[in-house]
Amino acid sequence: MALQFEVLARFNRARASRLTLPHSQCETPLFMPVGTQGTIKGLTSTQLEDIGCQIILGNTYHLALRPGADLIDELGGLHSFMNWPRSLLTDSGGFQMVSLLHLADITEEGVTFQSPVDGKPMLLTPEESIAIQNKIGADIIMALDDVVKTTTTGPRVEEAMHRTLRWIKRCINAHKRPTEQNLFGIVQGGLDPQLRDTCVKGMVALDLPGYAIGGLAGGEEKDSFWRVVAQCTAGLPEDKPRYVMGVGFPLDIVVCSALGADMYDCVYPTRTARFGTALVPEGVLKLKHASMAADFRPLDETCSCMVCKRYTRSYLHSLVTKEAMGSQLVSYHNVAYMMKLSRDLHHSILEGRFPEFVQGFLRKQFPQGD
Ligand code: GUN
Ligand code: ZN
Repeated sequence: MALQFEVLARFNRARASRLTLPHSQCETPLFMPVGTQGTIKGLTSTQLEDIGCQIILGNTYHLALRPGADLIDELGGLHSFMNWPRSLLTDSGGFQMVSLLHLADITEEGVTFQSPVDGKPMLLTPEESIAIQNKIGADIIMALDDVVKTTTTGPRVEEAMHRTLRWIKRCINAHKRPTEQNLFGIVQGGLDPQLRDTCVKGMVALDLPGYAIGGLAGGEEKDSFWRVVAQCTAGLPEDKPRYVMGVGFPLDIVVCSALGADMYDCVYPTRTARFGTALVPEGVLKLKHASMAADFRPLDETCSCMVCKRYTRSYLHSLVTKEAMGSQLVSYHNVAYMMKLSRDLHHSILEGRFPEFVQGFLRKQFPQGD
């Protein structure tokens, strides 16, 4: 195992912990911004360091296509290729192929897809995904899983869960750098409590360095989503990190943290920034709106980020959708907002005032109490 995980404090099921990885020390609850081609869209690695990010996500699928895992390996791994001294996590690639390419076909061997570069058929097996992730060299690597949409029902959900359990064993056998990279297993099973239970038990028996809860945030009802998270966190070990994949709305992070989850990732804060939306304690601020044209306040009066210190809503309104700088500045604030939310959660749990923090958060987001 190449990590240390220490729970520092609890409030009911919520945990504040310290996660020590080979390249940095992180505090949970923890939001991880998502990069695709070895970059978080619109932000430099120096800016990410300034904002306080300790770990960012890269995608095996994108990186393997361009610039290619062998090239990254020759250049000393992704940390040195992108000049990012802190921690990295790579997703296994299967989910991206299935969600991005409708042509992907899943068999017991792996995921077959048409290369978007040259159209040739390619096969990503659990062994190949791990070999690529070993070359990229992230601190945390993810098992290849068989993901179905949360809205899928019937035998396909069960098949995917059992296949995910068979594939994790192939991933473990293929993993060549267990003392430098942490392989996390992913719990699947759709919205079915029986299937989730089987998958949690199967994963826990393998004594992995950490566990993810996958297959969520795909259009299911909020209470089904939260029910699955609650069930999985209850069955996962207390002394290992728990990561809910693809989750990144501030409200979901607060709720999942209350349910005992520790780590999250999502493109939402940077994607929504590119559409001119800023994250604020009251919810969202649509910068394209005409009312912003003469609003000389910062995006968020309670935010101490560089953008909130220097620029007005009015100035950002004039940039968004016209100048690349507009989405860059809003992305900077949005990622800073997520980092502050993570820190606030951590400290409120540590200081025994988690319920008050959650109440304050909800009151600002839903002032009418709805
Ligand atoms: N990203 C968001 N959800 C998932 C998932 O279920 N599996 C993987 N591998 N990545 C994800
Ligand atoms: Zn700000």
